Amino acid sequence: MKTTISVIKADVGSVAGHGIAHPALLAKCEEILAKAKEEELLTDYYVTNCGDDTELIMTHKQGEENKEIHELAFNAFMEATAIAKDLKLYGAGQDLLSDTFSGNIKGMGPGVAEMEFKERPSDPVVVFCCDKTEPGAFNLPIFRMFADPFNTAGLVIDPSLHNGYKFEIFDVMEHKKVTMNCPEEMYDALALLGSISRYVIKRVIRKDDNEIAAAISTERLNLMAGSYVGKDDPVAIVRSQSGFPAAGEVVEPFAFPHLVGGWMRGSHNGPLMPVGQKNAYPVRFDGPPRVMALGFQIADGELVGPADMFDDPAYDPARKQAAEIADYMRRHGPFEPHRLPADEMEYTSLPGVMEKLEGRFEDID
Ligand code: 13P
Ligand code: 13P
Ligand code: MG
Ligand code: MG
Ligand code: MG
Ligand code: MG
Repeated sequence: MKTTISVIKADVGSVAGHGIAHPALLAKCEEILAKAKEEELLTDYYVTNCGDDTELIMTHKQGEENKEIHELAFNAFMEATAIAKDLKLYGAGQDLLSDTFSGNIKGMGPGVAEMEFKERPSDPVVVFCCDKTEPGAFNLPIFRMFADPFNTAGLVIDPSLHNGYKFEIFDVMEHKKVTMNCPEEMYDALALLGSISRYVIKRVIRKDDNEIAAAISTERLNLMAGSYVGKDDPVAIVRSQSGFPAAGEVVEPFAFPHLVGGWMRGSHNGPLMPVGQKNAYPVRFDGPPRVMALGFQIADGELVGPADMFDDPAYDPARKQAAEIADYMRRHGPFEPHRLPADEMEYTSLPGVMEKLEGRFEDID
């Protein structure tokens, strides 16, 4: 019997501004998922939040893209939205682009990462949750986990990893996907993956036996909505140990607070700060962007844990460096490369400004 992990997330309201999900929203989701567990639709669940995003981490036997599971998540977010509206929380129902469920939560606003696998004798899994950034934020760390021997010693010294992994890469602009093998096609893969707003890793698969290794939410909210509603704030599920990178290799890339798109109004580049749950609360200029890592052992579908993996003093230098980079980037104000480039601004105020200036642009002789 296989186990499915579904992580479905949405921002349905927060305190103050885009800060942190209200506990009443998490409590409502808890209540709904507890009932689904009682009714045996779910095997287990864990409700959490990263900043203003509420994450439903669910295990079950229904497989990926299951209508009942997606509907359960959608209903939980709808009921939480009702509370958010009563409390006049900021962005109540922000990520729900529709109020009627249409069979699959994809395309409706929430982010989804799911994987189904046959449990090993011991199955450690890390769930990453971000706030104030976009799915491409995972490109660099996921690449390093599964393809960079300077990050993952196992790629060199463990025969079960040595043949490498396949990366399923989505072109979120053209709605196309391509699968690339590493290490053989590493340079070509990197040519795509460096464009973090367009090419995003959806899945990582072990080459030896096609076993799923990682799944990432790739929903781009603004592309779906056609206007700026908020950032996509992605989640990822990564399996570790015994044929996958060790847990420590999975969290290692985040010791480098790389620059990602997001932050204030979803329109600025800033460092991704790895934080424990207690600091998954972006404040300064609505940021800088955060990532937290929850480690679980999956035991017959039960979520044993979580371990709050970035609540480790060894990440203090990364947090300090992120704060310093935040300072440096902020001093650019509205200038690139702090502010995102023009093609990434087309869902915010830029089209309005261009419209206003229409007719005032003259040819240069
Ligand atoms: P332990 O001896 O603490 O189990 O560590 C094993 C290991 O391989 C750590 O990467
Ligand atoms: P969220 O996507 O986290 O709601 O952020 C939106 C925003 O505009 C922050 O300044
Ligand atoms: Mg928000
Ligand atoms: Mg958010
Ligand atoms: Mg968002
Ligand atoms: Mg040990």
